[in-house]
Amino acid sequence: MKKSEVVLTQYSPLMAVDAKLIGSDGELGETPRVYALCRCGESDAKPMCDGTHARVEFSGEREDSDKPALEYYEGKQITIVYDRYLCMGAGYCGELEAVFGTHDAPKYEPDAGSPEEIIATIKKCPSGALTYMIDGKHAKDYFDETCIVVEKDGPLHCQGEIELKDDQDSDGLLPDADHYTLCRCGGSKKKPLCDGSHEENGFRG
Ligand code: FES
Repeated sequence: MKKSEVVLTQYSPLMAVDAKLIGSDGELGETPRVYALCRCGESDAKPMCDGTHARVEFSGEREDSDKPALEYYEGKQITIVYDRYLCMGAGYCGELEAVFGTHDAPKYEPDAGSPEEIIATIKKCPSGALTYMIDGKHAKDYFDETCIVVEKDGPLHCQGEIELKDDQDSDGLLPDADHYTLCRCGGSKKKPLCDGSHEENGFRG
């Protein structure tokens, strides 16, 4: 398999190159080597682009590029690293409440759980907002397989080594880790990254 990429311009759909696509039903999609994924939210052929972005004059200009510094929460055996900018509210961290708290009252207490359960929870975080360090080494590889997964009524999960290339230097916002989420509702202020707006605007697809 060649190196996988997602390529886009400010006004274009997402062009996926040599990337497997897993549908929201969990099935592997039949895709050519290059295919276009909708990110305006208006396609009738979701997750694929059907050209509607041109009719609705979609602009994918990013409104929020203000990325704060990474936060490090050091424990005895593991350090939780939190990238506040990337968090899109998937909420899996709340499953380990003793460590991460709740949606309304988040916290980061690495000694309140075992490293194994903290790692397992962090690996569910699709955006790369949560990562971890052990012995001073920042873990980067979370996925063995490279693919794009469509979340029902939600973003695209890019997993594995998928290079993001665009005209807004978006790769500079990505986590060190091997995954991130891309907006497909058209509402994110952090385009092309997901910021959780699909929840507020009731995106379906
Ligand atoms: S980006 Fe082309 S139809 Fe949505």
